[in-house]
Amino acid sequence: MRTEVAQLLDMAAEAARQGRYGQALPMLSRALALDVEGVAPAYAELFARLSLTGWPPQLEADLVTCLHAASVDPQALARTAARMLLVKYPEPVVAEDSLWDAFLTRCINVDPAMEARLAWLARRLLPDRLRDALAVQAFASEYVWGGEGLEVPADAAAGIEAERYLAAEMPRLFPRSSARNEEGEARHVSDAVRAQYEANPYPRWRAPAARQRVSVAAHLDALGAPQAEPLAVLVAGCGTGFEPIDLARTDPSLSITALDLSAASLAYGQRMASDLGVEKVRFVRGDILDVGQLGQRFGMVSSTGVLHHMEHPEQGLAALAGVLAPGGVLRIALYSERARAWVAEAHRAIAGHGWDASPAGIRAFRAHVLALPPDQPLARLRESDDFYTLSGCRDLCFHIREHWYRLPAIGEMLAGAGLELLMLDAPPEAQDLFLRRFGAAGDRRDLALWDRLEADFPHLFAGMFHFWARKVA
Ligand SMILES: C[S@@+](CC[C@H](N)C(=O)[O-])C[C@H]1O[C@@H](n2cnc3c(N)ncnc32)[C@H](O)[C@@H]1O
Repeated sequence: MRTEVAQLLDMAAEAARQGRYGQALPMLSRALALDVEGVAPAYAELFARLSLTGWPPQLEADLVTCLHAASVDPQALARTAARMLLVKYPEPVVAEDSLWDAFLTRCINVDPAMEARLAWLARRLLPDRLRDALAVQAFASEYVWGGEGLEVPADAAAGIEAERYLAAEMPRLFPRSSARNEEGEARHVSDAVRAQYEANPYPRWRAPAARQRVSVAAHLDALGAPQAEPLAVLVAGCGTGFEPIDLARTDPSLSITALDLSAASLAYGQRMASDLGVEKVRFVRGDILDVGQLGQRFGMVSSTGVLHHMEHPEQGLAALAGVLAPGGVLRIALYSERARAWVAEAHRAIAGHGWDASPAGIRAFRAHVLALPPDQPLARLRESDDFYTLSGCRDLCFHIREHWYRLPAIGEMLAGAGLELLMLDAPPEAQDLFLRRFGAAGDRRDLALWDRLEADFPHLFAGMFHFWARKVA
């Protein structure tokens, strides 16, 4: 027999699907009271879709519960919480309540109006609890809106200290900080990229949602690429470790190696792994070009948002293909040229004003963007979460090297590295458009078809192209 919670969730989902939020919300509220961790993810998803004009107290209490639930990534609720607070307190006031507290300590702000409010608050004399919560927020957003006068929270200071130590001790592929290429030339791009991420590790993720256990091997099997178990996985360009840690929590049977150029990024990941009790990720500092030095073959290699920052991405791809076991699976994500067109606009503005990637330069650029009327193309940047931290904004608009792609060129690059495309991992709205345009018989592995679709909907792959490919055995 289905439980009351399951029935309430089904009925709420149906009501929400029909846009009857006034009915869906009380049902979710009732279900949340019965099973916080089981219901919070569905509730959080609905919250993220709501546009609020009022602040019913029950909704506020439920939002606070969801922000603290272990099964929810609180960052997904950052916009909703900010909007609810701004509706509740339309004028700047010093107010203390559990929603302020949860928002400030669990989320990184991603709302421009809230940013102004935070800067206002930081200039006021505040009660202790609110001041401490604001200090947590200021640290997490890297003082992008101010707040430097607030004391660094004690656990953050301890974290910085721990990361310094971990970074110095990080195992390396080579004893030197950067190797030379086969011709003995210095790797200027790798060095510059490393310097960027040593200064600005990215992304500075906070509290991930607890994961349902899923077998990665079973997933690869379903993709038509079965692998021997136990499965060895390489996350190449793992940054601050979100992906390897998420994989380890999703499937504890995996043996995971996480490689990156930046010791500071790896140290962040290693500290988060230890905070979350994840022991099975091996963090290694080194260049993808030297990945063969690991002396290991992997059943799966994942590299998200990395190869397009290399001087010659096809060399990076060849190096990754070289450490795949025969028939092994590669998952990569690369920037779309069409979806990034507006970033070119940001690059022009930055060059025109002579802003550099220092905190002062990033702040000046942000102030320019925040002051733009909403109809200006660059105002779109305000919708990106990355805009709201110094490291995120640097990664988004000040990167020293970016290659952008059209899909057919990626197809050629994969084939050149001896890889066969398994699947373009397109978001659901893109899948729907593909079906409508090319019908059920349309070959979803035909990148020329996807390219035609993207030409009509240039923002279809705003979050990058994601692919699964297999090394031809
Ligand atoms: C945009 S971040 C992406 C981080 C992570 N994959 C993610 O999705 O959150 C790019 C990362 O790639 C790393 N990277 C860039 N070029 C690299 C190379 N040649 N070898 C190893 N890591 C590299 C950078 O140090 C940085 O941490």
